[in-house]
Amino acid sequence: MAGRDEAEGMRARDVGVTLGERRVLGGVDLRIPRAQVTGLLAPSGAGKSTLLRALVRLIEADAGSITLDGEDIRSFDARVLRRRVGFVAQTPAMLPGSVADNLRHGLDDLTDDALTDALHAASLDEAFAEREADELSGGERARVALARALTRGPELLLLDEPTAALDEGAAKRIGETLRSLCDRGLGICVATHDRHFADAWVDRREHLQ
Ligand SMILES: Nc1ncnc2c1ncn2[C@@H]1O[C@H](COP(=O)(O)OP(=O)(O)O)[C@@H](O)[C@H]1O
Ligand SMILES: [Mg+2]
Repeated sequence: MAGRDEAEGMRARDVGVTLGERRVLGGVDLRIPRAQVTGLLAPSGAGKSTLLRALVRLIEADAGSITLDGEDIRSFDARVLRRRVGFVAQTPAMLPGSVADNLRHGLDDLTDDALTDALHAASLDEAFAEREADELSGGERARVALARALTRGPELLLLDEPTAALDEGAAKRIGETLRSLCDRGLGICVATHDRHFADAWVDRREHLQ
């Protein structure tokens, strides 16, 4: 049987989004296959964040189709969709408390081992579990947000400008982390206007407009 690993991942066709009175996106096509890093490249204001949010139904597209392995995403319960497709926002909010509290939020049955795995997969030492979330640096915070998405066991991961506030070293660690996740079969989409990051870490490019 053809397994999910070989299946197509996410696909947007002719997608349109209107926010308030504004037609923010129209006629957008995008593909996010598994086991590759897809760069969603466009200048600021082009609609990258809007598109990523539509892919996990934080906003609803009003034209075109968005599918996950061929199934319309509107046919999934939104929580199921967001478990399968992780989303890391550009400025991830941290809840008060420790990193472990943040990872456990909404997932009370997360085991210690699963928590440690998620931290490791995000290139964080397990000692991070006890750190106060609001005392983390920008790079650490980005990786905690990534770990939090990974605790849900996603098949695809969407990251909105993950290196926006990071220095070169921290951006490189994010790139290396994404590469190792991708080697494990995750499909990754990174919205970015950071050309250096894209040149170094992206396997395939999708452009908006
Ligand atoms: N809630 C909103 N209402 C109206 N326009 C919006 C809203 N949010 C974003 N926009 C506009 O949509 C366009 C695309 O924004 P965005 O998706 O954030 O682009 P990017 O992530 O590529 O910088 C921008 O022109 C922005 O001003
Ligand atoms: Mg954006």
